Amino acid sequence: MQQDILIEQSSSAALYQRALKVMPGGCSRNTVLRKPHPLYAQRGEGCYVTDIEGVRRIDFANNMASLIHGHAHPEVVSAVTEQLKKGTAFTLATEAEIDYAEHLCSRNAGFDKIRFVNSGTEAIMSCVKAARAYTGRAKIAKVEGAYHGLYDYAEVSQTSKPTDWGDESKPVSVAVAHGTPASALMDVVVIPFNDAERAVAILDQHADELACVLVDLLPHRVGLLPASQEFVNALHQWTRDNGALLVYDEVITFRSRYGGAQRWYDVSPDLTAMGKMIGGGFPVGALAGRADVMDVMNPLADKVLFPHSGTFSANPITMTAGRVTMELFDEAAVLKLNRLAEYARTRLMEAIRLADIPACVTGGGSMFRVHMKPEPPANYRAAFQTPEETTRLNVLLDHLFDNGVMMINTCSGTLSTVMTEKEIDILIDVMLSGFGKIKKLLAKQKSV
Ligand SMILES: Cc1ncc(COP(=O)(O)O)c(C=O)c1O
Repeated sequence: MQQDILIEQSSSAALYQRALKVMPGGCSRNTVLRKPHPLYAQRGEGCYVTDIEGVRRIDFANNMASLIHGHAHPEVVSAVTEQLKKGTAFTLATEAEIDYAEHLCSRNAGFDKIRFVNSGTEAIMSCVKAARAYTGRAKIAKVEGAYHGLYDYAEVSQTSKPTDWGDESKPVSVAVAHGTPASALMDVVVIPFNDAERAVAILDQHADELACVLVDLLPHRVGLLPASQEFVNALHQWTRDNGALLVYDEVITFRSRYGGAQRWYDVSPDLTAMGKMIGGGFPVGALAGRADVMDVMNPLADKVLFPHSGTFSANPITMTAGRVTMELFDEAAVLKLNRLAEYARTRLMEAIRLADIPACVTGGGSMFRVHMKPEPPANYRAAFQTPEETTRLNVLLDHLFDNGVMMINTCSGTLSTVMTEKEIDILIDVMLSGFGKIKKLLAKQKSV
């Protein structure tokens, strides 16, 4: 069998055989899976990753947008190595936590207080629980198709399909995991992205029940188009009028401005969830915002509304790596990276025009996404791929991977500060040859 031959030939295939025996699907995160087997990493240096077969690729995935300076940045390695020698976690507080909390709070005037956790999932869960504790209400609202991690409530309708998503004026709350309690679905109100009128009409039906409206300002799975000023203002105003909190998921988007993508807009949230890049390559999450809201977690209060803890939260390794990483990602570095991403988006659009295929580019800040659709999709339903589009995208992704370019599996790219125009130019060359393959495939799809 073809697969057996491959398995004999490659070291990664042999490792995967071992992995399959001890992990469901042979891994702990589905993201790393590829057919017929995942490739195993040997090392990363800057914006390049080498696998154990010795193949080097430019890394536009950056561990799902979490490595803002690429791999093994010398200043981060050196600071973490020093801290490793002193210990990795204590049942004592560390100064490293205070140093980092001060730095992150200084980046955004709305961050009165901050708490650290261990993942973006945990940051979102903590924001939701804080909002519930503050308002005394159970329900939350979220955008259809938006990914906010694994918390039961936050993941509702992340993978809705045309067969179950219902009318766009009243999107159905659809479970992701089998066995999700029906009560969780009832406590999540789903709104369409960038449609202020429909969203407000839906929210109005739950006016006294919502603890918060949760929104990502540049939601990757929804299509990676920025939220419109009108949409954000409408959600903000609605929360002010109805005693709910506005919560931003900036787990990915905090990279977009020095103080987060929220600086693109006129209004500020009550709470912000962060994660990914702020860990400097280590597991992390954080929530920050208004002092009176954050104080629901204050253990010194007479009544603690939301008791909050975590064994590895604010461990000194993550705090050190995160602080050094974010200090390096200063105003100038953010602007420079965004300019490079603008160059990438512009050149990608030119390449699509040149190749004359129905594709488009979305994105903002230091990210981009290529869709196999002629127009940028306005929301999750528009971004939802037909089977033919999925086939074309997979052909493109395989072509990129086989030609030394690693992307996120939606064909999204996130830049790191160690990249230059050289890496973007290579990306464009490989994209162009990939678009040629798509053109041939399109002709075949049409003739069937
Ligand atoms: C926007 C957003 N929120 C939350 C999360 C969850 O973060 P984590 O994987 O660290 O739990 C992710 C992860 O991809 C994300 O993209």
